[in-house]
Amino acid sequence: MKILVTGGCGFIGSNFIRHIFRTYPDYKIINLDALTYAGNSANLKDIEDSPQYAFVKGKIENSGIVKDLMHGIDCVVHFAAESHVDRSIVDAQPFLITNVVGTHSMLQAAKNASIKRFIHISTDEVYGALGEEGKFTENTPLMPNSPYAASKASGDLLVRAYHETFGFPAIIVRPSNNYGPYQFPEKLIPLMITNLFDNKPVPVYGEGKNVRDWLLVEDNCRAIDIILHKGKVGEAYNIGGNSERRNIEIVKKVLALLGKDETSITFVKDRPGHDYRYALDTSKIKLELGWSPSVDIETGLKKTVDWYRNNEWWWRPLKERLSSESKGFWTK
Ligand SMILES: NC(=O)c1ccc[n+]([C@@H]2O[C@H](COP(=O)([O-])OP(=O)(O)OC[C@H]3O[C@@H](n4cnc5c(N)ncnc54)[C@H](O)[C@@H]3O)[C@@H](O)[C@H]2O)c1
Repeated sequence: MKILVTGGCGFIGSNFIRHIFRTYPDYKIINLDALTYAGNSANLKDIEDSPQYAFVKGKIENSGIVKDLMHGIDCVVHFAAESHVDRSIVDAQPFLITNVVGTHSMLQAAKNASIKRFIHISTDEVYGALGEEGKFTENTPLMPNSPYAASKASGDLLVRAYHETFGFPAIIVRPSNNYGPYQFPEKLIPLMITNLFDNKPVPVYGEGKNVRDWLLVEDNCRAIDIILHKGKVGEAYNIGGNSERRNIEIVKKVLALLGKDETSITFVKDRPGHDYRYALDTSKIKLELGWSPSVDIETGLKKTVDWYRNNEWWWRPLKERLSSESKGFWTK
């Protein structure tokens, strides 16, 4: 099989490419990535010389490049996105260009090339926010709250429209919060771990009461693999880690793993429009495709801390780049 992956130099995309080569050594992958601030060719250092792999630097919204790359492709797995909610609050424009216009450019080229399957990587954030009770199913109406979530929901609607209008063979996947190796250290878990290695405080929004479901990236990649091969065209699938926790619980677990106490926590002004709780009903993927997560957050966090401990060569340069930014994210 020959797969076109977009955003393969990002966190989940690079883990997915590694997963595919481990599982199907004869597959071929072309990785189209613009190498934005979040894209990092070091994420795929171990496979960049593989004859099964080719990297193309380019933007998904560039319809000329995308059209050329579709020749001979069987399936597309579309990860490329602007992915950080805080950045979308500062400036939503790049989110619209990549997540909406870029997704449309991918759909158009893939349709014209008659590819067999298009896997669109969405997010649980498209559903909006929950109170203390309930879970999102794949039929929950889309009610995005942040500019990031709105741009992702717009992508989902275009994918749906292509399926309904043209019979385009697309599947939407909606994973919960991923964590694990190669996650850019502006996101909560790697930010905390790398700050604590440097004896710096860990910033926590509000009182840290927001609830997220946490999914180890390798489990997410395994789920996307199963959906790619066995998922039903025209459907959406939630992917969750069965690990709903308050942010403050996650922070305390990381502190404990690193032998630190709570004096390392700094509470910062809450993010505007911060969704209170996300939780996914994942019975569809479990019942239809037989997937469930292999680890809970406690086991996954321990593995993740160990990975960051052993891979300072990877995160240190990113951390230095982030600290020279002046946009006032958590890292400041
Ligand atoms: N990280 C999570 O917890 C999470 C959870 C649910 C869904 N998702 C979704 O999964 C996907 C991957 O997320 P991630 O965390 O790996 O993101 P990331 O920010 O780590 O990686 C995004 C990648 O896309 C590339 N990219 C950005 N704009 C591009 C463009 N215009 N053209 C080509 N490449 C471009 C970047 O260079 C980068 O390599 C995204 O679609 C995101 O919305 C992420």
